Amino acid sequence: MTGCAGNFIMNNIILAGYMGSGKTTVGIKLSYHFRIPFEDTDRLIEKRQEMTVSAIFEKYGEAAFRDMETELLQELVHSREQSVIALGGGTPMRPGNRELIKALGTVVYLRIRPETIVKRLCGDTTRPLLQGTDAASKVRAMLSERAPVYEAVSDIVIDVDNMEPQEIIDRIEEELNEITGDQRTQS
Ligand code: S3P
Repeated sequence: MTGCAGNFIMNNIILAGYMGSGKTTVGIKLSYHFRIPFEDTDRLIEKRQEMTVSAIFEKYGEAAFRDMETELLQELVHSREQSVIALGGGTPMRPGNRELIKALGTVVYLRIRPETIVKRLCGDTTRPLLQGTDAASKVRAMLSERAPVYEAVSDIVIDVDNMEPQEIIDRIEEELNEITGDQRTQS
């Protein structure tokens, strides 16, 4: 049974994946499901900087935003409250961030096909890296570079193209239970 008081997890749940893969939507639902807080690294950075991600890119440049992501991960690693944490799509791409992400908790990669992303993000103005012409080629090129990194950093991979958020939650819970069961068997 899902959504009942017996749900429990042992670790933070970290959601990784490309822009538009549903990290925020799934993360919020997952946090209700497990009754733990939800954090989104983009929103935390925006709050701290008091400006949007687009404005940060525009004013300080992408490298400065990436430094802010790394600094935030370093802080989150020391936070004690168990949470669901949605990463920005580019967060795992900096090699030094990968160890921090793994140290943060159980990483779930919401894998999505480029065609689905293009459909979902058509008309979106909030992602600075996808503005301008030929977003479809940008998505394909970035995803082919990023996919192996997302896979390498993750404990669980879910193909989300044709799944409703609730189905994704159920799958994540099943997979987490398997990992927890394996850990119990090994100890
Ligand atoms: C980015 C993804 C965005 C945001 C920034 C850069 C990326 O987050 O961090 O625009 O490099 O993929 P979402 O994945 O939450 O859209």
